[in-house]
Amino acid sequence: MAESVTITDNRNGESIEIPIVDGGVDAGAWRKLLGNIWFADPGFMQTAATDSAITELDGEAGILRYRGYPIEQLAEKSTYLEVAYLLIYGELPTEEQYADWRHEVTYHTFIHENVRKRFMEGFHHDAHPMGMLVSAVAALSTFYPEAKEINDVDIRNKQIVRLLAKMPTLAAGAHRFSVGMPFVYPDNTLDFASNFLSMMWKIAEPHYQADPVLARALDVLFILHADHEQNCGTTAMRVIGSSHADPYSATAGAAAALYGPRHGGANEAVIKMLTEIGHVDNVDAYVKGVKEGKGRLQGFGHRVYKNFDPRAKIIKKIAYDVFEVTGKNPLLDIALKLEDVALADDYFISRKLYPNVDFYSGLIYQAMGFPIEMFTVLFAIPRTAGWLAHWQELIQQDQRIARPRQIYTGAAPRDYIEMAAR
Ligand code: CMC
Repeated sequence: MAESVTITDNRNGESIEIPIVDGGVDAGAWRKLLGNIWFADPGFMQTAATDSAITELDGEAGILRYRGYPIEQLAEKSTYLEVAYLLIYGELPTEEQYADWRHEVTYHTFIHENVRKRFMEGFHHDAHPMGMLVSAVAALSTFYPEAKEINDVDIRNKQIVRLLAKMPTLAAGAHRFSVGMPFVYPDNTLDFASNFLSMMWKIAEPHYQADPVLARALDVLFILHADHEQNCGTTAMRVIGSSHADPYSATAGAAAALYGPRHGGANEAVIKMLTEIGHVDNVDAYVKGVKEGKGRLQGFGHRVYKNFDPRAKIIKKIAYDVFEVTGKNPLLDIALKLEDVALADDYFISRKLYPNVDFYSGLIYQAMGFPIEMFTVLFAIPRTAGWLAHWQELIQQDQRIARPRQIYTGAAPRDYIEMAAR
């Protein structure tokens, strides 16, 4: 059987054979015959917007690999900083490369004082930290105007380091401001996750020492969230990057996309849902309500994973490690019952709805003391590595500006009506 499709234009009988490559057909070949006929595909259900060598995801088999390495091995053996290097530069760093990389990222954690004083402290006292983060990242572009030189490899690398390094500082700064606590400066003697925990929780002690189990758990969560190929936020990054905007503006756009409850905001929504359910005895009634169309089960379902989300499996195990230190999150029992009920219910089975990465991550964050508003921020910190890897790839690919078609469904041509006559 030929690995191709044949399309015939029945209006004139012309046909064209298009090869199937990597499971898809090239729109360029389609365009040759049917250039004025486009696909209607809102939500990109059937459209590959790019080719990419960064992350491989097989939703049916529950496989996730970064640059070929299985997520399970990276979560067990690697660190977030090493994974960030891998995603961005394509290979695991040598010892020397890693030492340089770690040094660079560690020594770019400070933010310009005016970012803190003029921007972060300018927000209303109850500003959502994710809104603060999105705005502060965008503001960084005005501090590094050379970032516009996106084709200069050295300048590009400098912005990559700055963005990775400064995200935790901005994130913790947003939290400290929202609870009226003084800003904590980065401690360059600490590793990436411990430094973030120090900026979050330090009070008066000269040197904050994070619990190593919690620091490692956070680092693994960062690894799991570092990339996920062409999701909504990464697509936003690539769309904005395709206009050759600077990486701070593009990252702010990607973070804004992540903010929504259908994307990175879901872990926040999960805790709200579990709190609303309130007791294991209420789970059945809640699931019944979902099946009747009263909202969705937050932390369930995925556009790509139709079997299980491999990140959710790892996260469930981390949850128990964390609870050993923090004590069990009281919402855990409700979550476990909800998972059991949903996984045994035909509504969820037939639609292939399984717990996703967000189902258990919120329980861990909450047990570690993070306020709910910080959950999406905790997603944005590591996802910055993935966004930057895709941004860099996009520039190297010299991809054209993203500009989809639309199908116009508005009013037919009509003449302007003077206001008095309306
Ligand atoms: N609870 C109940 N029903 C659901 C859910 C859910 N969580 N998700 C999908 N469905 C149903 C949906 O109603 C539809 O049913 P029907 O065919 O009868 O109309 C069917 O399943 C297909 O849903 P869809 O909306 O076409 O699926 P999608 O691929 O467009 O949406 C999703 C994927 C993740 C947005 C969706 O599953 C959802 O809203 N989940 C809850 C929010 C969530 O957990 N988001 C985090 C995603 S993982 C982290 C990330 O990568 O951002």
